[in-house]
Amino acid sequence: MEGLFITFEGPDGGGKTTQIHKAAVALRAQGYEVVESREPGGTSLAEEVRQLVLSAELPLTNTTQTLLFLAARSEHVDKLLRPAVRAGKIVLCDRFCDSTFVYQGLANGLKLEELSELRQLNAAATEGFMPALTLVLDGRPEVLAKRRDARGVKDRFEIKGLEFQQALRNGFLTLAQAEPTRFAVINAEGSEDEVHAAIMKAILAKLGK
Ligand code: TYD
Repeated sequence: MEGLFITFEGPDGGGKTTQIHKAAVALRAQGYEVVESREPGGTSLAEEVRQLVLSAELPLTNTTQTLLFLAARSEHVDKLLRPAVRAGKIVLCDRFCDSTFVYQGLANGLKLEELSELRQLNAAATEGFMPALTLVLDGRPEVLAKRRDARGVKDRFEIKGLEFQQALRNGFLTLAQAEPTRFAVINAEGSEDEVHAAIMKAILAKLGK
């Protein structure tokens, strides 16, 4: 039986890492085999790309960034994500194609109808491998910023400030609105347990439970 590929998206500081882990623990307790991964990352090459692309010191054009994220994604899909789903596992991934569509697209000045080139590049890198469910951990940037700032070191995107975070938020909400069957928007301003409950509800609904 095929597994299920689920992605977690949203602006920085929505608590994705914590929530992915909580969901993984809960799903394992129900007998599912679960793989947790993240982008950029998940393979050794992709982890190296991660260092390169997230360093705030190295100046990179938007195109270079996009192609690096996609190169990392191609490896990740081929070596880890697709094999895991084919083996019947539930894969929970911290960011995927919608981060590209927002960070390199909508929050970078493109409109929804101008994303076709990015979508085509992504489709080539992934050979059409797409999430069955995408959870957007959504909240007001000024609320989420408090958690983010508590984390310390900032990457290239985090140093861009509140206005950029607002553009990210709008970007993810725009994507979710355009594709309501794949997306579920989760209010990430609630307590850890409330957010977890909302996430589990969406995942179990997708599993037909
Ligand atoms: P990460 O430290 O994982 O951030 P977070 O904890 O907020 O998920 O770094 C990932 C960063 O890379 C994040 O700022 C979003 C950005 N990114 C892109 O710009 N495009 C992409 O395709 C991906 C996967 C991530």
